Amino acid sequence: MPTTRLSRLPERAAVVDLDAIRHNVRVIRKVAEPARLMAVVKADGYGHGSVQVARAALAAGASWLGVAHISEALTLRAAGIDAPILAWLHTPDSNFSAAVAAGIDLGCSGWELEAIVAAAREQERPARVHLKIDTGLGRNGAPADRWEAVVGEAVQYQDEGLLRVAGVFSHFAVADEPERPETDLQLDAFREAIALAEDAGCDLEVRHIANSPAVFSRPDSHFDLVRVGISVYGLSPFADQTSADLGLRPAMTLRATLSQAKRVPAEQGVSYGLSYRTSSPSALGLVPLGYADGVPRTSEGGPVRIAGRTYPVVGRVAMDQIVVDLGPDADPKAFRGAEAVLFGTGDDGGPTADDWARATGTINYEIVTRISPRVPRVYEGEDA
Ligand SMILES: Cc1ncc(COP(=O)(O)O)c(C=O)c1O
Repeated sequence: MPTTRLSRLPERAAVVDLDAIRHNVRVIRKVAEPARLMAVVKADGYGHGSVQVARAALAAGASWLGVAHISEALTLRAAGIDAPILAWLHTPDSNFSAAVAAGIDLGCSGWELEAIVAAAREQERPARVHLKIDTGLGRNGAPADRWEAVVGEAVQYQDEGLLRVAGVFSHFAVADEPERPETDLQLDAFREAIALAEDAGCDLEVRHIANSPAVFSRPDSHFDLVRVGISVYGLSPFADQTSADLGLRPAMTLRATLSQAKRVPAEQGVSYGLSYRTSSPSALGLVPLGYADGVPRTSEGGPVRIAGRTYPVVGRVAMDQIVVDLGPDADPKAFRGAEAVLFGTGDDGGPTADDWARATGTINYEIVTRISPRVPRVYEGEDA
């Protein structure tokens, strides 16, 4: 199939390379096999587009999709995706009936059981659940001292034909810091929880706890299935390892056409608050991406690649735009219509989401996920 990159990109775009997604899924599968792979596509595929990423990941051998909310799972079903999907974050207002009707597996901490069973009765089909044990993260999941009771209740509903306990799962707290001891404790607690569920009569299809960092650093955590998000998008979950170190390819490039480039005198103040002033006559470039597009407002100094050179963002980030100082020797005319890349693969020495995370005091997860719907997504690669 031909590559379908638009010959001319929109003036502002998050370009998503679906071949990179497929490559990353294959890399992760190799590391994780024989465990199967759940591609986590919550938050609109970490900002990349959940439906497009899901299709590419499934084509590359992912067996499952994972999302936080039932509404996200329903979006995938509405797009015609019939792969197994797990949704794990609910409230008493969640639409369990719609989930059961759409054949979506539900993460279950215990408190949801009655409502899920009511949905199963309504839909006249058993609900599929993955019971979640809190092994130490302190978020959702049954606390250890409730686990036996939750399993007992679920098995009772299973015996009545209202429920199928398809899985047991948990989530790591510090797998991105492999030297920390808490991961071992979580794994011990997880193994115990599985044993109790199996002894109580659960015939589990899948047991899963590994996220991206655990896939790469804890082979003993892979069990039947790994639930991977950030590495599918080609980004490293570790502070001290790059995408390339893990054999991954960043899938998203955030770029825009420069709005304007102009000469300014020395001492020209830039953007709200005039927190930056040019030290000599210079040229300023205006990039039409701002905090409404998901560029963190704390991005002063963030790197922007233009025509093979990297310039720092100067002055405050505004709602719609940022400014770079192109330097005293720059000819503004030469920059008309130039492409500004905030982050991408880094292959040409340009900035990456990791660079932006460092510049803005956050993590690469947030950099890509926060790119707002105002920025058109453009897909390239075989699946595009
Ligand atoms: C329950 C759960 N599993 C798996 C993941 C994927 O984690 P990662 O992106 O580190 O692979 C997430 C993401 O936060 C999650 O909330």
